[in-house]
Amino acid sequence: MVMSAKSLFKKNESVVGLDIGSSTIKVVQLRKEQGRAVLETYGELAIGPYGGLDVGRATNLPADKIVEAVKDLFREANVTAKIGSISLPLSSALLTLIELPAVDDDKLAKMIPVEARKYIPVPISEVALDWLIIPRSAEEVEKAAGDHKQDKLQIMIVAIHNQVLKKYEEIVKNIGLEGVSFEIEVYSSIRATISRDLSPMMFIDMGAGITKLALVEQGIIKNVHIISRGSQEITIALSRALNISIAKAEKMKREIGLSGRDEESKKISALIEAATSYIFTEANRVLLGYQSKNNKTISKIVLTGGGVLLKGLPEYTKKWLEAEVVFGDSFSKVETPAFLQAVLTDAGPEFSVAIGLALKRLQELG
Ligand SMILES: Nc1ncnc2c1ncn2[C@@H]1O[C@H](COP(=O)(O)OP(=O)(O)OP(=O)(O)O)[C@@H](O)[C@H]1O
Ligand SMILES: [Mg+2]
Repeated sequence: MVMSAKSLFKKNESVVGLDIGSSTIKVVQLRKEQGRAVLETYGELAIGPYGGLDVGRATNLPADKIVEAVKDLFREANVTAKIGSISLPLSSALLTLIELPAVDDDKLAKMIPVEARKYIPVPISEVALDWLIIPRSAEEVEKAAGDHKQDKLQIMIVAIHNQVLKKYEEIVKNIGLEGVSFEIEVYSSIRATISRDLSPMMFIDMGAGITKLALVEQGIIKNVHIISRGSQEITIALSRALNISIAKAEKMKREIGLSGRDEESKKISALIEAATSYIFTEANRVLLGYQSKNNKTISKIVLTGGGVLLKGLPEYTKKWLEAEVVFGDSFSKVETPAFLQAVLTDAGPEFSVAIGLALKRLQELG
């Protein structure tokens, strides 16, 4: 029997969002029902152990080890979907905002690779290029009235090294998914956590090895930044200072966080604070730089990633960045069983990339 590709992918088919993080893989499976995205299953798996490291540590596993871990997770979480979306790490991409004259799409497609050469430090033939034209806000259009700048387009160029794509294609081939699309993780997590509030915001994704920042206006990413430290630094700092195992330090970090109350835990919180402050000094520098360059106020911070589950972090963030701070509540975008709601609200920041990916795939199905 011959089947067209389209008939393979039925409209109400289940989709997966697969977030291959540096320390943890997360998956969610959704299905569309009467126009709503319904949660079918979800799960996560620490991949440190697949590379001989402790749980919570960042790794850089080869494709075959990732395949092994994804298969284990799919089995554990009962994933049955055959189509989905997979995240690409922000650290493997180069995002640059450029301005070009407002010409038609064909011309643009010729101009962009030429322009991109100026910003991309490797030969253009070694990367896959993608781009997104950024719509101007009403305010910007007004400001530019009578100015020749009005005839310019703002374009976000995205370049990913071919070798990275090759690795991901190999993973896809071996994990049993057929219809797969890719997306850079920050785009997914913003889809899953953005609210109706379109004021300028900063999204913080604190992973194990790195922290990613995205500056977003009107729901559109204007700038991204990577801080080369993440939550594992806290674990490592505790393990060194107290001369305890990584596993024990990881447990302490999660249990006490920044809110230690008695003498002993206050000392631990002080060590955690010292390790966390580097990340927030950087985040504050980026935030202030963006505000003064663009003459905008960032009034809201959205926290995502497993690292932000550190106890007391929202208050700490508020103190440093002087803005309203909220957790990315990604499960609120999908229909979930009532008895799971409390658990899922807590897990929202961690699963934001996976949920954003699955939502994207549902949108693609139409
Ligand atoms: N309850 C918690 N309290 C403190 N830290 C936590 C908690 N839960 C998870 N973490 C930390 O969060 C980190 C993992 O976060 P996450 O799963 O978002 O990372 P990742 O997606 O694998 O990394 P990346 O996005 O950088 O590739 C680990 O370092 C872990 O120790
Ligand atoms: Mg992550």
